[in-house]
Amino acid sequence: MIAICPFCRTRHDVPDTDPTSGLTCASCHRRFAARRQPATAASEATPSLMRIERPHGVFDRPLVVARQATALAATAETAPLPEPPEEAEAPFLAEPDAAEERAAKAALSAIRRQIAAAAPAPRPAAEPDSPTTRRLGVMLSKGGVGKTTTAVNLAAALAKAGKRTLIIDADTQGQAAYALGLTPPCGLAELVDGTASPDKALFPARDNLWLLAGGKALAGLKRLITRKDFGGERTLADALAFLDARFDVVVVDCAPGWDALSVNVLFYVGELLVPVALEAMSLQGFSEFLQSFAAVSRYRPQLRLSYIVPTFLDKRVRGPAALHEELAALYPDTICPAIRYNAKLSEAPAAGQTIFEFAPRSPGAQDYAALAARVAQG
Ligand SMILES: Nc1ncnc2c1ncn2[C@@H]1O[C@H](COP(=O)(O)OP(=O)(O)O)[C@@H](O)[C@H]1O
Ligand SMILES: [Mg+2]
Repeated sequence: MIAICPFCRTRHDVPDTDPTSGLTCASCHRRFAARRQPATAASEATPSLMRIERPHGVFDRPLVVARQATALAATAETAPLPEPPEEAEAPFLAEPDAAEERAAKAALSAIRRQIAAAAPAPRPAAEPDSPTTRRLGVMLSKGGVGKTTTAVNLAAALAKAGKRTLIIDADTQGQAAYALGLTPPCGLAELVDGTASPDKALFPARDNLWLLAGGKALAGLKRLITRKDFGGERTLADALAFLDARFDVVVVDCAPGWDALSVNVLFYVGELLVPVALEAMSLQGFSEFLQSFAAVSRYRPQLRLSYIVPTFLDKRVRGPAALHEELAALYPDTICPAIRYNAKLSEAPAAGQTIFEFAPRSPGAQDYAALAARVAQG
């Protein structure tokens, strides 16, 4: 039988012999139960998976996606989905296995403890760094949770709504430029070390949208920060303060992990938006992030954890839907409308387009428009 990984949608040919044992996904290495769940009223009402699935997973290599995206872009949003080829047996969407559920519960308990530990000391409201410009960091130390996707599409939506918006890519992977179909000659590193002027480094991306690109040059910037005798953590904040006169919103796409540049971003931005993929490892990453946030907050009382954005929501799968509810109960004020799993979001970067350009009527475009509306409210 053919099972689809509930996390990354890779198909697996599961031997019929031992339906009770779990499987490790060959693509994303997460565990899922390899047995077909008994049908429920809700799942019976769900349209056939064969119509919903795309022929690749979330983590496919860009070249593969590029070829598929070119073919799909021609028909995207205009033609009905083609009929699936005949298959001996319909695939089924597997459920996260018991170990994954236990790990998710443990991570939620850790988050609950951190919330309880942080609660008793309400902080006095601190003056924001900039009265005119919102500086928003999209951050979580775990990779693959949707940070770049969120930074790019949120910034694009805010720009479309008329806000002068800047994306700062603080990741050596430099994927924000790729997702926007741009190849800027320089960016953040060159602006901060003084080898490029603002007019050269601030690359026009769309109407009302500019990019300060990331990439490998950021390794040099990290060295520059760590070599400073004192005040290294304020390097970005000092170098980028002048941007407030030019932009209404600055969205920083952060790298996974935790280093001198992450700390610098926390000393530059005033608000944090944390995308949390609805699975155990991402929740563990969120729990660790809360510790770092608490540590930095002592020196940065202006910093607010303003938005928690659940990503990769798939209501057809029990695990993510349940985690979404738990997270919403823990953070009733900061939780945002969830971003659903949507293959169009993973296809758009290879076409160098935002989701609003690539598939404007897709669930991904609807979800990011709703998120931007929430962020615009303040
Ligand atoms: N809601 C979603 N549905 C489907 N694919 C997604 C979604 N969000 C992100 N992706 C894809 O998942 C992968 C990881 O997302 P990305 O934004 O690069 O994460 P991060 O920046 O946190 O590492 C990318 O291939 C992206 O296109
Ligand atoms: Mg990224």
